[in-house]
Amino acid sequence: MTQTTGTFTRMDESTAEQWGVIVQETFAHQDRVAESVLGMLRSLAGITDGFAVDQLTHSLQTATRAERAGADDELVVAALCHDIGKAVSVPNHPRISAEILRPYVRDDVHWMIQVHQDFQGRHYYAHLGADPNARDQHRGHEAYALAERFADEWDQRAFDPDYDTLPLEHFEPRVRAVFGSPKSF
Ligand SMILES: [Fe+2]
Repeated sequence: MTQTTGTFTRMDESTAEQWGVIVQETFAHQDRVAESVLGMLRSLAGITDGFAVDQLTHSLQTATRAERAGADDELVVAALCHDIGKAVSVPNHPRISAEILRPYVRDDVHWMIQVHQDFQGRHYYAHLGADPNARDQHRGHEAYALAERFADEWDQRAFDPDYDTLPLEHFEPRVRAVFGSPKSF
């Protein structure tokens, strides 16, 4: 156990000065977020579950395709992290991934990740007895075209073991930059 001496032991006895220290310390250690994200991404190498490639390769390939299509840094990092929730739980992975990204990317990019499975469903839901047109519920959303492009051009095509997928090291500086500065809390 590590501890800080001279500070409160229950919140209702805390002071503004003590909270000033906590905020300062939290900002000073912001780089641990990128380290956690990179660790979670690496752990995806252990998940294959019947796909042609493991989930880290799939994530890297999605980001590689986004980068080669001219996507900006936030979009590329979001593409890299779109399935990171699978490191915790596959059924609700889109929302876990989206929530991890939420303070660090613009709203349309966050939404694109949150709903990505509804768009991806076009390409496989019929095989599972689900509605392949699940994306239709989002028609009219201002980021609909972006989510469509993400699913159709980058995500659903990123299961090719022969594609020249860029390594995680290639994306690391952008992961550290994007997760280094939250836009919101
Ligand atoms: Fe994916």
